[in-house]
Amino acid sequence: LPKLFIFDLDGVITDTAEFHFLAWQKLAEKIGVSIDREFNEQLKGISRMESLERIIALDPSLSLSDEEKESLATDKNEYYKQLIESIGSENTLPGIEELLKDIKASNVQIALGSASKNAQMVLDKLGLTTYFDYVVDAAKVAKGKPDPETFTTAADALGISYENCIGVEDAAAGVQAINGANMFSVGVGSEEYLANANYIVSDTLKLDFNQIIKEYTVWKK
Ligand code: BG6
Ligand code: MG
Repeated sequence: LPKLFIFDLDGVITDTAEFHFLAWQKLAEKIGVSIDREFNEQLKGISRMESLERIIALDPSLSLSDEEKESLATDKNEYYKQLIESIGSENTLPGIEELLKDIKASNVQIALGSASKNAQMVLDKLGLTTYFDYVVDAAKVAKGKPDPETFTTAADALGISYENCIGVEDAAAGVQAINGANMFSVGVGSEEYLANANYIVSDTLKLDFNQIIKEYTVWKK
């Protein structure tokens, strides 16, 4: 068995990836830029400021001061916080809590590896905090995804070697981070964006503990 599962939050445990997108879309509109779901794939897993930079870059005529950027990032976070205000346990994606239970029942540890400053709050709202042995959020890392630091930080904190870890991600940047850490990567979503994952499922309901372990065991050999 592996020793640690490290889960991304937004888009894996809960559908907050959609709320991030809606909040960015509203913010982009405010500066006269329009973004679609395809562009949004490159924002998944990326920190708030870096996401803003990528949106600003869509219009080369935009020139914003650091202060203006800070203020726009704060606006986006306010939009986002409004959208997640009323989420609760019903917003945990299908199959996730069962998977967390199966992992715990096998005495394998669980960590969160999120780029979000709102991660702990979201986990609390979902009522899932007690499943997690360790939480890595934006405050704990210097280099965000696709750098492996988010995932290695969780493993290091729990004293587990990387080849005994499984990372679960919905973002291309996240899969790259897991692979870069030499951990087994599970991608949740479309092959189009997650082709580099060691194992891909189309949605969270297909995240079956025994199947993941089988795939991991083959990979480890
Ligand atoms: C990641 C999301 O989990 O967190 C990104 O995939 C988001 O979309 C990033 O931009 C940062 O989140 P926050 O809550 O700190 O703005
Ligand atoms: Mg995600």
